[in-house]
Amino acid sequence: MSSATYTPRHLLITGGAGFIGSNLVHYILEHAPGTHIVNLDALTYAGNLANLADAQKNPNYKFVHVDIRDADAMNRIMAEHEIDAVIHLAAESHVDRSITGPGVFVETNVSGTLNLLRAAREARAQRFLQVGTDEVYGSLGPTGMFTETTPLDPHSPYSASKAAADHLVSAWWHTYQFPTLITRCSNNYGPYQFPEKLLPLMINNARQSKPLPVYGDGLNVRDWLHVHDHCAALWTVLTRGRPGEVYNVGGNNEKTNLEVVRAVLGLMGKPESLITYVKDRPGHDRRYAIDATKMMTEFGWKPSVTFETGLRMTVDWYRDHQSWLEQIVSGEYQRYYEQMYGRR
Ligand code: NAD
Ligand code: TYD
Repeated sequence: MSSATYTPRHLLITGGAGFIGSNLVHYILEHAPGTHIVNLDALTYAGNLANLADAQKNPNYKFVHVDIRDADAMNRIMAEHEIDAVIHLAAESHVDRSITGPGVFVETNVSGTLNLLRAAREARAQRFLQVGTDEVYGSLGPTGMFTETTPLDPHSPYSASKAAADHLVSAWWHTYQFPTLITRCSNNYGPYQFPEKLLPLMINNARQSKPLPVYGDGLNVRDWLHVHDHCAALWTVLTRGRPGEVYNVGGNNEKTNLEVVRAVLGLMGKPESLITYVKDRPGHDRRYAIDATKMMTEFGWKPSVTFETGLRMTVDWYRDHQSWLEQIVSGEYQRYYEQMYGRR
């Protein structure tokens, strides 16, 4: 069991306007009142300040509109805000987009991470947590699970760029003894997820009785974890993790895509005839499954939200936040920045 804890005073969260980042900002503001957060985000299509409307009023929270590809800006922000810890989430995150446009994945996920590592080391940050994905391990057959020692074998441009970033982070630990941590998490679901990802896309289509596009035979397996449990895991690793270590985070909750889609339809009272099989994703990984034993034995962390409860909460959340969805579909959300901060 790890007992020493590190509580950051000035924490930089990158990508805090995205799905997991905005949930994490809310989580830390609630659970760590002694920590000041600087949320650094470029506000790509995936960043949405409406996710953080409540946080804006909190004196422990500040937003900076910056791109991690800008190396000078990274140095400036570390110094200006006296950053002592970083949780790095900013990334291009959607596999399908990485297939049609891989370049920006390398620029943001690899070069952007390099910029941050350099700046954080220069600023003598005490912790650097790289928020990684289980997709770097590749694809499993019907049995077996990914552990922290599973060799990296990424298959998509997205996972390849995330694996490259993880390798850089690891090199900063081994070469410079810079105190890095890496988490690798399974598929998240919950509030504020951009409706290009499976669950919000299916919920959004179902509410409009539009077809639900299932790739291939629908039997690909993902391990689903509620985003609040991921946030708790990230805070645990940042404050209690051992520098240089990798921690797998997962829900122990494997479902085929068809099981997930049918459950959504059931909860929404919509017919299964909406399911439409479409062409498979190129290089579609068959199965992911995370062994999170290390998180459980070292910290006593475990998922607290069952899939049944979490899915119901999520379907209810999107039902109660239809204007959030509609603003995204119409592109209106991208004008939110202007309303908050004036013209860019
Ligand atoms: P997301 O796409 O919802 O959010 C990404 C955020 O990063 C957005 O706010 C975007 O504006 C910002 N961003 C993108 N490029 C940037 C740049 N160049 N400079 C600054 N900001 C930039 O992604 P998410 O689902 O919240 O994932 C966050 C992180 O967690 C990613 O690193 C992802 O690889 C990792 N992850 C996600 C999952 C998942 O299931 N969603 C699972 C495991 C790990
Ligand atoms: P996604 O949410 O894109 O996450 P990831 O590919 O990173 O795991 O997709 C989850 C699963 O759902 C994946 O097997 C692809 C599948 N999928 C569909 O069948 N239809 C869709 O429209 C989408 C977006 C995904």
